[in-house]
Amino acid sequence: MSAVLIDGRAVAASVRDDVAEGVRAFTDSGAAPPKLAVVLCGNNAASAMYVRNKGRAAQNTGIVFELHTPAADTPTQELVSLVRRLREDESVDAILVQLPLPPQVDTQAVVDAVPPEKDADGFHPLNLGRLAEGRHVSVAPCTPLGCMELLHRYKIPVGGSRAVVLGRSIIVGRPMALLLTNADATVTVCHSKTRDLAAVTREADIVVAAIGRPRMVTGDFVKPGACVIDVGTTPGDSGPVGDVDRATVEPVAGWLTPVPGGVGPMTIAMLLRNTLSLARSRRGG
Ligand code: GUN
Repeated sequence: MSAVLIDGRAVAASVRDDVAEGVRAFTDSGAAPPKLAVVLCGNNAASAMYVRNKGRAAQNTGIVFELHTPAADTPTQELVSLVRRLREDESVDAILVQLPLPPQVDTQAVVDAVPPEKDADGFHPLNLGRLAEGRHVSVAPCTPLGCMELLHRYKIPVGGSRAVVLGRSIIVGRPMALLLTNADATVTVCHSKTRDLAAVTREADIVVAAIGRPRMVTGDFVKPGACVIDVGTTPGDSGPVGDVDRATVEPVAGWLTPVPGGVGPMTIAMLLRNTLSLARSRRGG
């Protein structure tokens, strides 16, 4: 048996089409198109590339993309002031501060200045808190949302399943565990201190690997027929390298997301969906 490879590019294209349709319906009623403001501070080449891709995808769906590029030596207070101006700007529906920020900047202070009603990333404590309460949220962190969408589109059973999340970051692992819990999975979160990791993951129907350790999840970590979602994107000589060792996992798993072309394209698609949701919530679309 060989795993079904989950085509994140195709699902992301379909989500982008849905968002474009939603934007058309929103503007048909006379409203201005949703606007996403992005703060890109400094000269991080990878961040600049991600932001270019976000801009292109936003514009292709009819979302207005407003880019702010303060210099790398901008002090924290100036960045906070910039985010506060965007917060007060009625024309801006969603704000994203691209991470990482330069080392002299107090990242938390800048991210905390993004209000929950314009929180494109879903990182605000109020939005994460709502997620933790199991309440309906209009935004959630984009990468875990993208993983949930892949599970949904491929009709992979989540309710009643056993899911193991590797990693406990606020960007992926923690919100992933909350989304799976809210979808009635029984969830275990593993991390660098977990003992006998492979014994834990072998119990799982769904494994989400988000630890940033290239090819760490090998075939002996996987229950036959399980779904393995690979969030890893460590830069390698010939492109990104996932957390999953495809050569040994593909013959064992039931489904597998490849790297590249699995989870990666979903992150931007879900950012666009979050932006449209925020515009609707703010302006009643
Ligand atoms: N840098 C890497 N991933 C992300 C993300 O999802 N959001 C933001 N704001 N920055 C990032």
